[in-house]
Amino acid sequence: MAKTRAGIINVTGYAGVELARLLVQHPEVELTSVTGRSAAGQKLNAFFPHLTNIGLTIENKLGDVDFVFSAMPHKDSAPEIIPLLERGIKVVDISADFRLRNPAAYPEWYQFTHPAPQLLKEAVYGLPELYSKKIAIARLIANPGCYPTSAILALAPAIKKEIIEPNIIIDSKSGISGAGRSLSLKVHFSEANEDVTAYSLEGHRHFPEITQELTLLNPKKPPAVTFVPHLIPMTRGILTTAYATLLPGKIATGKDGEKQLQEIYADFYKAAPFVKVVSFPPHTKYTWGNNDCYIYPTIDHRTGRLIVVSCIDNLVKGAAGQAVQNMNLMLGLPETTGLQALAVFP
Ligand SMILES: NC(=O)c1ccc[n+]([C@@H]2O[C@H](COP(=O)([O-])OP(=O)(O)OC[C@H]3O[C@@H](n4cnc5c(N)ncnc54)[C@H](OP(=O)(O)O)[C@@H]3O)[C@@H](O)[C@H]2O)c1
Repeated sequence: MAKTRAGIINVTGYAGVELARLLVQHPEVELTSVTGRSAAGQKLNAFFPHLTNIGLTIENKLGDVDFVFSAMPHKDSAPEIIPLLERGIKVVDISADFRLRNPAAYPEWYQFTHPAPQLLKEAVYGLPELYSKKIAIARLIANPGCYPTSAILALAPAIKKEIIEPNIIIDSKSGISGAGRSLSLKVHFSEANEDVTAYSLEGHRHFPEITQELTLLNPKKPPAVTFVPHLIPMTRGILTTAYATLLPGKIATGKDGEKQLQEIYADFYKAAPFVKVVSFPPHTKYTWGNNDCYIYPTIDHRTGRLIVVSCIDNLVKGAAGQAVQNMNLMLGLPETTGLQALAVFP
């Protein structure tokens, strides 16, 4: 069978170049076309020498392809995608342009009016652990944000099984590549190195996405969410710690409760090949370059609170890897195809 011809819009950003790395190693896909404004006309392996074997030329416009990934910044992604859908091409959008169902959320959180609000109803939120059946038949996937991926996967079993009060605190820490490749003071080595800071306490753009998805898991009890992201001096990785009070009588006390929690989480993710439910606090290093999400659910017995620690690589499970996982489902391939590499350690 002929390989699917895949294209990447905006290969020059971090999400785009990570997609290129994954797609050239994918056995059922041929990366045939890539675009990138600042590098048009250059060879991909000259612009990114670590992609040694990819002699493709970076173009201004996509060539003939069967499947497209958009790694454009938000607002600029939707106008690229709409004509592709009209031509019958399936798309995974790594930007936020199709993640929020309410069109009014775009002016509020992203400062633009959505150009195709009708597509917000159609786009499928590309979190395969929750929506694999819908993803398999979709033509447009809204690939989740990196923070939302770590937070939603950490909390979904507890919300679905109704074991917590809907009052949730999400504390997340991201490596610097989460801010993208564009230069800004906050990513200068001398300012970011040996520094940790919280930011966007007034409301991060991933907040409406997290609350939208957590609400959909149990619409009868919409959660009150406090989300505080932090920037920390590492290249890749997100570590999220989520807290919520356990509902009385739902979980046993002591070690039995911890075991019960492990069982609830392991059962919820039994068909999810990339989610590893573990009984120890995971390290972001376990996910460097792979598509895994490690989740450690436990109990603070002194307060009766659930604590869930999760970690992912923001550029893989938080972006390009999840996008490839979605493509696999859309093409009827095993979810793990091309995504089985182990983490780089240490
Ligand atoms: N980084 C992550 O961890 C992550 C995770 C999940 C999702 N995402 C999403 O993925 C998308 C890309 O993010 P990124 O982190 O890869 O960004 P990035 O590294 O900052 O790359 C942004 C690139 O976009 C190009 N660009 C900006 N405006 C453009 C326009 N109007 N037309 C064409 N090119 C334009 C820039 O290229 P020039 O140099 O040519 O201007 C730059 O290379 C964003 O929507 C982001 O939200 C990122």
